[in-house]
Amino acid sequence: MATAGKPKEEGAPYRLGGMGFQDASGRRLSYDSYLHLRELLDLQQGLTEAHDELLFIVVHQVYELWFKVLIDELESVRTAIEAEELRVARHALNRVKVIEDLLVEQVAVLETMAPQDFLTFRSELAPASGFQSVQFREIEFLSGLKDAGYIKAVDGEGEARARLQRRLDEPSLHDVFTVLIKRRGVTIRDLYRQGDRHADLLELAEALLDHDEGFRLWRLRHVEMVERQIGDKPGTGGSTGVRYLQSTLGKRFFPELWEVRSQL
Ligand code: HEM
Repeated sequence: MATAGKPKEEGAPYRLGGMGFQDASGRRLSYDSYLHLRELLDLQQGLTEAHDELLFIVVHQVYELWFKVLIDELESVRTAIEAEELRVARHALNRVKVIEDLLVEQVAVLETMAPQDFLTFRSELAPASGFQSVQFREIEFLSGLKDAGYIKAVDGEGEARARLQRRLDEPSLHDVFTVLIKRRGVTIRDLYRQGDRHADLLELAEALLDHDEGFRLWRLRHVEMVERQIGDKPGTGGSTGVRYLQSTLGKRFFPELWEVRSQL
């Protein structure tokens, strides 16, 4: 739901002054200070002198920033479904899908790295791996794929694990969608067979399916790129690498929405 863009109150780094927005030290706000660019551009400290390491770090950081936006959007989808504001939910899901398309497309940037160049710094990375991305698991849990086994694999100590535990305990999109259609007294099969009678629910179901598909397309694109970079070597995170990633391709957030297609 849209909320007015009024200045933050307590603890806000900026306040409105006579000359427009000012930062905490009273300086007039600038592009740099608003975006905290000095801090942001100082966060790419590689472990080696390898030329491609900067690209590698930036690409991962950009993914994590988009994951942050996705989590925020998925939370608003959940709130909107709970409040039966289905148009709002679809609007946010539309943004989710556009961002996911972008995430799929960005994989190609890493493919411009030659595997032999990647090897010049890869060994330094172990045991770090995308496998430990907390936000990636948050997206999975929030969407409906809850697997408590991943909690112990995540990076960081108590705080990250506690966050994931909370995601495990709170309702997922799958949960709130199931409650919604039950409340309306329809089954998923009804939705698809009598689409005209439940148009708003059907459109929501298709938007959720878009999200499911968007995420899976990223999995497919990622594993293709990984094979191109490391062949069948094990991952830095300690898994079998490509073989492990292929085993995740069957994961769906809303399996029922895929199954119903066979029943039409
Ligand atoms: C040269 C580039 C990359 C390579 C070679 C690579 C390789 C791998 C491998 C082998 C795994 C399996 C776990 C392990 O044993 O490490 C994995 C998992 C993962 N990677 Fe990557 N990766 C790359 C880039 C990226 C990027 C840019 C992201 C973006 C965030 C990413 C996110 C993930 C995630 C989220 C997982 C866990 C997937 C799951 O468990 O379903 N990876 N990666």
